[in-house]
Amino acid sequence: MRPYDIIKKKREGKKLTEKELDFLIEGYTKGEIPDYQLSAWAMAVFFQGLDEEETASLTEIMAQSGDTIDLSKIKGIKVDKHSTGGVGDTTTLVLAPLVAACKAPVAKMSGRGLGHTGGTIDKLESIPDFDVSLTQKEFIDSVNEQHIAVAGQTGDLAPADKKLYALRDVTATVDSIPLIASSIMSKKIASGADAITLDVKVGSGAFMKEYEGAKELAQTMVKIGNNVGRNTVAVISDMDQPLGFAVGNALEVKEAIKTLQGDGPTDLTELCLTLGSQMLVLGEVAKDEKEARAQLEEAIDDGSALEKFKEMISNQGGSVGAIEDLDLLPQAKNKLEVKASTDGYIQRIKAEEVGISAMMLGAGRETKESTIDLAVGVKLAKKVGDEVAKGEKIATLYFNDDQQLKEAKEKLLSAYQISSEKPEVAPLVYEVIK
Ligand code: URA
Ligand code: CA
Repeated sequence: MRPYDIIKKKREGKKLTEKELDFLIEGYTKGEIPDYQLSAWAMAVFFQGLDEEETASLTEIMAQSGDTIDLSKIKGIKVDKHSTGGVGDTTTLVLAPLVAACKAPVAKMSGRGLGHTGGTIDKLESIPDFDVSLTQKEFIDSVNEQHIAVAGQTGDLAPADKKLYALRDVTATVDSIPLIASSIMSKKIASGADAITLDVKVGSGAFMKEYEGAKELAQTMVKIGNNVGRNTVAVISDMDQPLGFAVGNALEVKEAIKTLQGDGPTDLTELCLTLGSQMLVLGEVAKDEKEARAQLEEAIDDGSALEKFKEMISNQGGSVGAIEDLDLLPQAKNKLEVKASTDGYIQRIKAEEVGISAMMLGAGRETKESTIDLAVGVKLAKKVGDEVAKGEKIATLYFNDDQQLKEAKEKLLSAYQISSEKPEVAPLVYEVIK
């Protein structure tokens, strides 16, 4: 077998065999096949696509390329949740304790943020002393005893995907449906969950800008999951504006706590109830979505969801005091109000621009090596559909270092589109794909 022939075959739109894919991906992961050949192959896939069988093979090959996590010592059906990436996506912080309070085991491994998107692990580290590095035994014991553990990724999960994703990132081959689907699902399969709930984002702030593409991505991932024996459901949700109001680590922790208290933003609350319902049904804790939703609402109303969050924090060494008194979380020294430049209605809030603005203030990493400031970020004051007057506050920037403040403010202003007509507000949840 020669990489050249495999590239050419795909370039001509022909179907690759599992053996060919395995040869290519394994050779690449081991460093025997160079970047330039995989780049050409990825570009051929970008234009010619992969069919269902090829996508399934690629997923399995990448899932098996490194460590796989064994969660079989945890009782019950382990349901993982994954978002295709968003800005100010605080859902995991809310969902993990909410679902665990309903007695579904939550064994969550999360990552750090990069670029304009945040990571759950960074967010949790804004809680003083919270420890995200658990041993395998601590992780499993916590889930068995408290129904919950959230830890940083350990082991070398799907290294083939890691290498290929980095290559796609610099060769304009990220936004290919079969490549995204196999990338995400390979990691989910390697991390050992029994069932998977996917939050597929659509809109200006997402990989998939259009509904049709998001739906195809969702269907592709659901098929992969179900074919490898992991019950998978996908919720297609809006990312035409950031979720909730807060974008930034400690700011989002505060927003998550408010949501667990029943006092959070409507969109964030609704998305958590929708995703949570799917998780409880997949986990066989509730018989249908209606029953699941009632259980989740009850956990918020009776305080058990917030209690579960505190239990997790304390179990992983964190300061529960900071949950009870939010002023003890990292606070930015300064803030700057950003004001509307004209009268009208908020038409759109480009999520990516808001994320970049928060990153410029120090909330996100420009490169993997950058250090971040957990206290800083952006809080939106107006969302799509709201009316504003010229000079009225649309957002607040929280910052410690004013080096890029001017750019961050301009970025934020460029995120907001204001027009004279009242827009139609997109639905938050479009569809559930099973
Ligand atoms: N997220 C991933 O993990 N992989 C992709 O290809 C795109 C988004
Ligand atoms: Ca948010």
